[in-house]
Formats: sequence, structure tokens, C-alpha cells
Amino acid sequence: MYVNLKALYLLVLLNDGMQHSASALAKLLKCSLTSIHFLVYQLKNYSIDVVNIDANTIKINKPIVWLNTELIIKSTSVGSKKFDLRLLDIVDSTNNYLLNQLKRKTLINGTVPVVATEFQTSGRGREGRIWQCGFGNGLMFSICWRFDKSISELSGLSLVIGIAILRVLKSYSIQNINIKWPNDILCNNHKLAGTLIEIRGEICGPSYAVIGIGINFNLSESIKPMIDQQVTDLSEVSSNLIDRNRVFGELLVELHNVLKDFDYYGFVYFRKEWISYHFYEGCEVDLIFPNGLAIAGIIDGIADDGAICLLTPGGKKSFNVGNISVRSRVY
Ligand code: BTN
Repeated sequence: MYVNLKALYLLVLLNDGMQHSASALAKLLKCSLTSIHFLVYQLKNYSIDVVNIDANTIKINKPIVWLNTELIIKSTSVGSKKFDLRLLDIVDSTNNYLLNQLKRKTLINGTVPVVATEFQTSGRGREGRIWQCGFGNGLMFSICWRFDKSISELSGLSLVIGIAILRVLKSYSIQNINIKWPNDILCNNHKLAGTLIEIRGEICGPSYAVIGIGINFNLSESIKPMIDQQVTDLSEVSSNLIDRNRVFGELLVELHNVLKDFDYYGFVYFRKEWISYHFYEGCEVDLIFPNGLAIAGIIDGIADDGAICLLTPGGKKSFNVGNISVRSRVY
């Protein structure tokens, strides 16, 4: 992956949030003024809000609190040794990174591989969507978990990951945070976080799940209009400054807990807790299928395999096709 190191160095210099003169920056970086303007353009491509105060003065609006291995590990307490944590400045997609390692069999046995990044050039969402998040604006990471089960026994896994995220974010007293089936994390009905799970393995096991998580922390003004759904971030929904490194460490611990419990007990163990977080439980909804067809009914819990249950005029039915979307009926 091509990373413009000079652009990153410029970002480090601008990250104090102060105004800088372009000519002084050019001296420090031993390059021309034209190069500085080109590097600024590169930073804007990473969705960093660089503001031109005047022809020779620049600053960035939202300084980044960098991901930091030590701080992350500190908040995982005793669990730290379990993870093989890698932090990357830029990558195409953290899920791609771990899937490639899995393919090349370069993952280290006995530890849980985790990779996080400040910026993804091809971040992926569910159902072929793009996941957009500016440089340092969010938490973007993937974790690879090995199950001795077959792939077919992993249904419900994506719901359980939502529980880990909710448990951690709720501990920061964020109000109105819910899950929308199967695993969208919403706050005030706007998307706050999402999960992309990709499974590889043998029919009889073992199976590997690459679990990618994206949480919006502090979206830059330039990225918001590029996202094709209503989004929010932690800076908007919490009055306190929430520390990315701390949330990441706590999330790793919680993911470890839920993945172990899921492996042992299956989804049924989590069902009650999951339903308590479900935004649409008991609501009259339309389930809309990818082919545009819809079915109306009332959401009535979750089946053993994580499928959503709907009370329809034709009786109780469950649906677990990945790309069903759920919408409130508008009266
Ligand atoms: C969704 O809600 O559509 C899922 C979004 C998942 C985004 C994360 S960010 C880290 C990981 N790498 C990716 O390319 N996608 C996931």
C-alpha cells in the first residue's frame, strides 16, 4: 500500500491544532511551497479537514489522538497477552489484511490476531457497501477468531458481536443506543458503528471468523456528506471526550468474553440480552428483501440461529437472509 510519508509527517506537525505558516513547514520538511500544497491536498484525500487561513497559513480543525499500543494494552488489563496487536497508519481494509494473512497461513498460533488502522482506502461494509471514515476519525479494526466448529454452527455470531460493542459503549452512559438487526449500532436512530464478519474454513471445522468493526468517533466535516446514510459519532452523542485507545482495549476484552461464551454456549445464551438492545422489538415493520419484495409484521424476538422472527398474518416466521433490511412503518 502506497503511503505518502511526507504527508503523514506534515500531519504530525499540524496535529497540535495551531496555525502554521506553509513556508516554515516547507523548511522543516525540506521541500518547496508547491510540495506543501500538494501534501495538503493529500491530507484532504484522507478526509482530514485542513483549513487554509490565508495563502500562507494552514491548520487542522480536529487534531487526532493517535492509536497507541501501550494505551490500548493498558486498558485490556490481564487479557493483553492474548492479542497479537498490529497498528497500521493506512491500509486498504483491515478485514482484507487479516483475510490475506489467513490465506497465506501467516497468523501466529495461540494468540488472537488484531489489526487496527487510522485510515482505510477501501473500507468495506455489509452487502457490498463502502465504509467511509476519515483519518483518525474512528476506530477501524479486525480480529480473527478460530472456532473448532463448522461454518454452519456460526450463525448468530454477528449478533453477539453487537452485544460486545453495546456493553462497552453503554458503560460510557451514552443514551438511546440500540442495535438494529442484525448488527447495526444506532444512536438516536443514526448509524454509530457497524460490523462486517467474513468466515473461512472447512465444512467440519475449524472455522475462522474475521470480524471487522468500525465505530465513528469524531467524523470530519468533509466525510459526512460522502456517507450515504444518516450517521452520528461519539463526539456528537456524548458530552464527555471518549478515549479511542481505552474503548479499543475494553472492546478487545469484551470481544474475547463474548466469543468464548458464544463458542461454548451458542447464540441462545445471549438471546435475552440481545433482544433488550433491539431497536425494533415489538414494532410493526416491513422486512424488505434485496429483490424489493417486502413482508409486513411485528418483530417477535430472535430464533436460535440469530434469524429475526416476525408475526405475520400467515403466522410466526423467521428470516435470516443477510441482506434483509428492517424499516419502521410510516403511518
Ligand atoms: C456495516 O455496517 O456495513 C459494516 C461496517 C464494517 C466496517 C469495518 S471498519 C474495519 C473493518 N474493515 C473493513 O473494511 N470493514 C470493517
